[in-house]
Amino acid sequence: MAQVFVPLTRRRFGETLRRDAWYVQPLIAFVILSSFLIYATWAAFQNAHYEFGPYLSPFYSPVLFGDSPHSWFGTKPAAWPAWLPFSPALLILPFPALFRFTCYYYRGAYYKAFWADPPNCSVGEPRRSYLGERSFPLIMQNVHRYFLYAALVFLGILAYDVFKATQFADPATGRTEFGIGFGTLILALNVVLLGGYTLGCHSLRHLVGGVLDNISGSPVRKVAYDCSSCLNRSHMKWAWTSLFCVAFADVYIRLCSMGVLPDWRIL
Ligand code: FES
Repeated sequence: MAQVFVPLTRRRFGETLRRDAWYVQPLIAFVILSSFLIYATWAAFQNAHYEFGPYLSPFYSPVLFGDSPHSWFGTKPAAWPAWLPFSPALLILPFPALFRFTCYYYRGAYYKAFWADPPNCSVGEPRRSYLGERSFPLIMQNVHRYFLYAALVFLGILAYDVFKATQFADPATGRTEFGIGFGTLILALNVVLLGGYTLGCHSLRHLVGGVLDNISGSPVRKVAYDCSSCLNRSHMKWAWTSLFCVAFADVYIRLCSMGVLPDWRIL
């Protein structure tokens, strides 16, 4: 068999034979992810304007403790240190945040956008050694499958929030009645997009199908595996659209609560 020897040459940082605008994609990812991180951190520390009528911001759901009718276990715990800012979001946001942070797709995006490792495919990187995800600290990314369990629980809670977002109090009688507002639709869309993102998780595919030698031997698992694989094919789109929607839901509820926007009641 004929053999061709292709010498491997180490490229300098940023050096490439690519002629396309390879830097645009990581630049966009950098801007969007940075903006989301800054906004989500700011919103999580506000401890205010996270609910409006029957709506609860997904950044704050579930409210484990807090001054809110949505709170599960009452107000702020007495043992909470006085020097530590309190917000219900700080108790729960680490779970969905770490689910996204350890996601296989986002890893590829922010390794390029934030660490330039590499800046893009076939573009020279700033490091000379490769440790990758086989050594500390990146080996910790393997906890992703455990955050998947948490994400599935959150998905159920957010779906219940959509139901609660259809229960409006009648201002005249105080009785609860069924209704749909623009906020209800946003919260429902948020669950659909988060569902598409979470259920298409690479780890979920392994969970439902990876333990079988012959997947067609278990019809239920095969259907679950096929559905998850189908969603996984557009994982990038689910990842970005769900990120936008969860931020938009918080912004919308915040603006309604602050009196800047009226909620558009459809039913
Ligand atoms: Fe992206 Fe699991 S791989 S959510």
